[in-house]
Amino acid sequence: MISTDVYKAADLLRNGEVVGIPTETVYGLAASIYSEKAVRKIFEIKQRPLDNPLIVHVASIDQMETLTKDVPEKAYKLAGAFWPGPMTLLLPKSIDVPKLITAGKPNVAIRMPGLGLTRELIANSGVPIAAPSANPFGRISPTTAEHVANYFPDAISMVLDGGPCRSGIESTIIGFDGEDPVVYRLGSLALDEIEAKVGKVQLRNQKDVAPDAPGMLSRHYSPKTPTVLCDDIASEIGNRSEEKIGVIVLQHKIESESLTQKVLSPQGDLKEAAKELYATMHELDQAGLDLILIERMPETGLGVSINDRLQRAAQGK
Ligand code: TXA
Ligand code: MG
Repeated sequence: MISTDVYKAADLLRNGEVVGIPTETVYGLAASIYSEKAVRKIFEIKQRPLDNPLIVHVASIDQMETLTKDVPEKAYKLAGAFWPGPMTLLLPKSIDVPKLITAGKPNVAIRMPGLGLTRELIANSGVPIAAPSANPFGRISPTTAEHVANYFPDAISMVLDGGPCRSGIESTIIGFDGEDPVVYRLGSLALDEIEAKVGKVQLRNQKDVAPDAPGMLSRHYSPKTPTVLCDDIASEIGNRSEEKIGVIVLQHKIESESLTQKVLSPQGDLKEAAKELYATMHELDQAGLDLILIERMPETGLGVSINDRLQRAAQGK
């Protein structure tokens, strides 16, 4: 099921099939936005509620323009700076976008992925591609083709293999209040990079009731194993009675022989930590542990986005 044949994947998409696809952020479950059957299948196999809209992936600004209208100037500025890349823009939709994709909302989420292979796939399929992250609803997003194949061994016939995702957490979602950019989901494009381009932006990423971007529900991105986010791992362990404990730290292991420990980045590089985060969580989640403790990252650059995900993972169960 795992294959590097981009033409075969494009054929399947054109013919109304669902395909697992790589992007630089996380792997997606992809369908042509014009195949109602395939789009419905995405919702079904992810067990995703129909009121949670899908991101549309494009290969060019021209393609974006067929799907949108009244695009704010600042959206073009952001697109110029960060596309192709891990940024999704919420823009007023044109009549070309089926209602199922936007869950009836007036805006469509659009992203031009940074991975060349994904853009090649979109260009070859000739259609815009809807793709949510390729995980069952509420679970950790996949960052390798194997993660996708393990989640959906029977429901899809192909996962296009683009190697491990280089960014590792989902795209940053930006909408607009008039001309003013508003961040609805923190992600692989760091807040300070956005602000360096367009000035201070609002952050509206904590809505639990009728959220503008339903991915902001706090119970999300969860391992099955109980997971706790810690400011001080050593003292947390002292308070714990669980037997098999796994630990994820940014840079420095703690002194202990009895723990399963994972270091995200020996250099303390937050980009590397973001890249490794989900694969590390997947691995520990499958290690038969009673508890996973994760160290809070420094609140700078991508650390802000990683902490956001860790908070949601920890609240999960
Ligand atoms: O990095 C990513 O964005 C990955 C890769 C595959 O591109 N995709 C991804 O999709 O994370 P998903 O469906 O797991 O998360 C998309 C988020 C959801 O919270 C959804 O509610 C929100 O975007 N969203 C999508 N379309 C929207 C719309 N029209 N209006 C508001 N929120 C929207
Ligand atoms: Mg998702």
